[in-house]
Amino acid sequence: MYQINENYQKLPGSYLFSTIGKKVAAFQEENPDKDIIRLGIGDVTQPIAPAIIEAMHKAVDEMGDAATFRGYAPDLGYEFLRSAIAENDYKARGCDISADEIFVSDGAKSDSGNIQEIFAVTNRIAVCDPVYPVYVDSNVMAGRTGTYDPKTETWSDVIYMPCTAENHFVPEFPKEVPDMIYLCLPNNPTGTTLTKDQLQLWVDYANKNGAVIIYDAAYEAYISEDNVAHSIYECEGAKTCAIELRSFSKNAGFTGVRLGFTVVPKELKCGEVSLHSMWARRHGTKFNGAPYIVQRAGEAVYSPAGKEQLAKQVAYYMNNARTIKEGLKDAGFDVYGGVNAPYIWLKTPDKMTSWEFFDYLLEKANVVGTPGSGFGPSGEGYFRLTAFGNYENTVKALERIKAL
Ligand code: MLT
Repeated sequence: MYQINENYQKLPGSYLFSTIGKKVAAFQEENPDKDIIRLGIGDVTQPIAPAIIEAMHKAVDEMGDAATFRGYAPDLGYEFLRSAIAENDYKARGCDISADEIFVSDGAKSDSGNIQEIFAVTNRIAVCDPVYPVYVDSNVMAGRTGTYDPKTETWSDVIYMPCTAENHFVPEFPKEVPDMIYLCLPNNPTGTTLTKDQLQLWVDYANKNGAVIIYDAAYEAYISEDNVAHSIYECEGAKTCAIELRSFSKNAGFTGVRLGFTVVPKELKCGEVSLHSMWARRHGTKFNGAPYIVQRAGEAVYSPAGKEQLAKQVAYYMNNARTIKEGLKDAGFDVYGGVNAPYIWLKTPDKMTSWEFFDYLLEKANVVGTPGSGFGPSGEGYFRLTAFGNYENTVKALERIKAL
């Protein structure tokens, strides 16, 4: 008789955004006349920029011609895309990352879930609390997190680094030294970030303690302040301790198109073993590459027209972020984030729990957000709104919240 991976049985409930989706669907079914505004999941609403659509059309035509047709993509991704990434995301920011240290994938979510595979199951992970649920859940599936305590909503073998208003959402070095440190900056869900100097301290800490940092920079396009690093490789020494994950979902609206990449520097070694070689082996064995058409779309993100159009798109969402932040402040809420990230993190009013406020907002204002406690115990009493809606709906949602 076969056995299942029992670690899956340990996972409490369903994936956060699936739970929210089900709740909202049930509410809509009971209230078909209600116009629900969705500011929950961080899904984009603006169409793909024209320069990117044009590149995709061209690539589609190439696939229909025997002379230009492409089959399997190279293991690491097409050179044209990896070079564009190396030039624009790294060399232009003074980071010495080369095209062959970049692994193109179908998105940062898969990479952030898969990357733990190349590490020992005995490693201790440290996560910010609240945290993007994929980091913890994928380690649960791998059997790295110990037992779950439903009372505290924590795992026995996970090191939690609380990030709350009290510490300005800056994680402190944990008492117990972790082996793997997950950092998402600018942060999902709090919408806050660290300065480059604060990030440098984490790089120094990891190098000193032999830890690896899994650095999720999916929201770097939203950074507006000069003292914030766009890549961890802007910090000295990061190439010997950090893996960086990037996404095209938020900067270019590819949530439905699917494209991302992971940087594993060749200098990153565990003893004599190169993590770059390990990830290359994994990538080659388990992944057949993002589609050619999508990789050409990714290349167009770095074209002059693509850059100009996407800067406007990011500005559009950040205008939403400002609208939400200012609107909530006027309504008397304590609000955080929204300056270097498209998320607004607010304190729930009247000591409501995060889920109580979720229900209240859905029922009374027909606005969907994300309960902070869904991201971890320190998210309790907080709530996340996304700036990825369209402007008209964002304004309408704020009017409804203010009228409560
Ligand atoms: C979120 O809402 O946290 C994100 O959309 C999730 C993701 O990017 O997978």
